[in-house]
Formats: sequence, structure tokens, C-alpha cells
Amino acid sequence: MQTSGNTVLITGGGSGIGFALAQAFAEADNTVIICGRDEAKLTRAARDVPGCHAIRCDITSDQDVQHLRSELETRFPSLNMLINNAGLQYNYRLTEEPNALEMIDEEISTNFTAQVKLTVNLLPLLRRQERSALVNITSALSVVPKESAPVYCATKAAMRVFTKAIRYQLEGTSVKVFEVVPPLVDTAMTQGRDVRKVPPARVAQAVLRGLEANKKEIRIAMVKALFAINYVMPGVASSIMRPS
Ligand SMILES: NC(=O)c1ccc[n+]([C@@H]2O[C@H](COP(=O)([O-])OP(=O)(O)OC[C@H]3O[C@@H](n4cnc5c(N)ncnc54)[C@H](OP(=O)(O)O)[C@@H]3O)[C@@H](O)[C@H]2O)c1
Repeated sequence: MQTSGNTVLITGGGSGIGFALAQAFAEADNTVIICGRDEAKLTRAARDVPGCHAIRCDITSDQDVQHLRSELETRFPSLNMLINNAGLQYNYRLTEEPNALEMIDEEISTNFTAQVKLTVNLLPLLRRQERSALVNITSALSVVPKESAPVYCATKAAMRVFTKAIRYQLEGTSVKVFEVVPPLVDTAMTQGRDVRKVPPARVAQAVLRGLEANKKEIRIAMVKALFAINYVMPGVASSIMRPS
């Protein structure tokens, strides 16, 4: 997949990994559009990335997604890449958290249902182009879960499986499907965790390299070693990740 000359929508592009991707894609001569719920954050991010466009959109709102789609159709008809990056993670014990039911709904709709629906909404636009890409950001936790975020890990596993299956459905079309599997990255999502984290810019550069090399599954940094350990010694991988 070429990594310049594209028109790229990055969900959750106002911060963290999404923002680093926006910077990297803009530097590589792509048209970049970011979306998210927080208008002020989006405006700040778009100001910091030359040539970046912002459209406010809560991906869990059908109304917002319809607005986003119509904006893309009229203002960015050359859209040929969707990066499903927006996400949230709650750490809690299911049996002890008083708001668990609301949190479960929010995690599942943001990290899975909304991304699948957004993909279905935007695939007709992507398919109009000669070469397109669907890029889904999952997590190492989709394969080796941690104890404190069972629902988050399950949503990432669901996205991993969805990514594989939709790749089958899109075979023979102009849309290539990629999965990005980051390790622990230094963003708002992992704030307060005093462990070694990868900078978001490093993730973004690895994504661009992986797309260029047409790697269907882009495993970043220590994820490669973790998946190898999980293949031969799954118990060891589980004990590494359970408290992470
Ligand atoms: N950080 C890590 O260690 C790590 C590791 C593996 C995978 N990941 C994945 O990488 C992706 C990015 O995470 P991050 O670490 O960069 O987190 P982050 O800094 O918290 O960024 C998440 C982004 O998602 C947006 N977002 C959340 N809910 C949304 C919604 N309903 N509609 C639209 N946008 C929404 C947020 O913007 P608004 O608040 O403005 O909506 C924010 O910009 C996530 O899918 C995450 O699961 C992260």
C-alpha cells in the first residue's frame, strides 16, 4: 500500500496514537481528516498538523456518523483509507464496580459496534477508489488479556476476528485490510501506569512501514516477541500480561 497521496480518515485523531498517525500521514504527503467527540481537542490537533482537517463525530452516534459520511462524500470524495483508531479502556472489577453495566455498554459500543458500523458506512466510499485500505487498531491484549480490563480485551479480540473475516469478504476488491497490534503506548489511555511504554510516534512510523510492506498484521515492538512466546509457551505469555 502506498503511504503518500492518500486521503485518510483517522478516528480518535485528536490525541495519542491517532494524533501521531495524523502527524506521520500529513508529513508523508497525505490528506488527513481526524474525528473525535471533543471539538476543542480536535481543533487544537488540526492546528498543530499542517493541512489536517477536523470533523467532530462521536462514532457511537448514528446521527454523527451520517453527518461524517456526508461531509466526506462532499468535501473529501477521494477518501481511500479508514483508520479505526478511536477507543477507550476502563479498568475495573466486574463484580465490584457500581457503574459496571454502563461501562460495559460504552466499551463495547466504542471499541467494537461503532467501528464495525462506521466501516460498513464508509466501505462504499473506499470501494470507489482504485486502491484503498481499512486499518484497524487492535491490541496485544486481544490475544493475551489482562486481569483488570476484561471487557476492553474482549472488544479488541472481537475487532481482531472481525478484521480477519472482513478481509476475506473484501478479497478481489480495491480494499486491503490491515490490523495494527500496538504494545503498551504512552498516551492518555495508559496514564499513571509506571511501566515501559512506547512513544506514539514510534507506533505511527511502524504503521507506515507496515502498510508500505503490505503486512496484513502489523505487530509493533515487543508484540512480536510476546506473540512468539504465546505460540510456544502460552502460560508464560499469560503470566506476563495478566498484571500488565
Ligand atoms: N495506549 C496503548 O497502550 C494502546 C495499546 C494498544 C492499543 N491501543 C489502542 O489504540 C487506540 C488509540 O488509543 P490511545 O492510546 O491513543 O488512547 P487515547 O489517547 O485515549 O485516544 C483515544 C482517542 O479516541 C477518541 N474517542 C474515544 N471515544 C470516541 C468516540 N465515541 N467517538 C470518537 N472518538 C472517540 C478520543 O477522542 P475524544 O475524547 O475527543 O472523543 C481520543 O482521541 C485505541 O483503539 C486503543 O485501544 C492503545
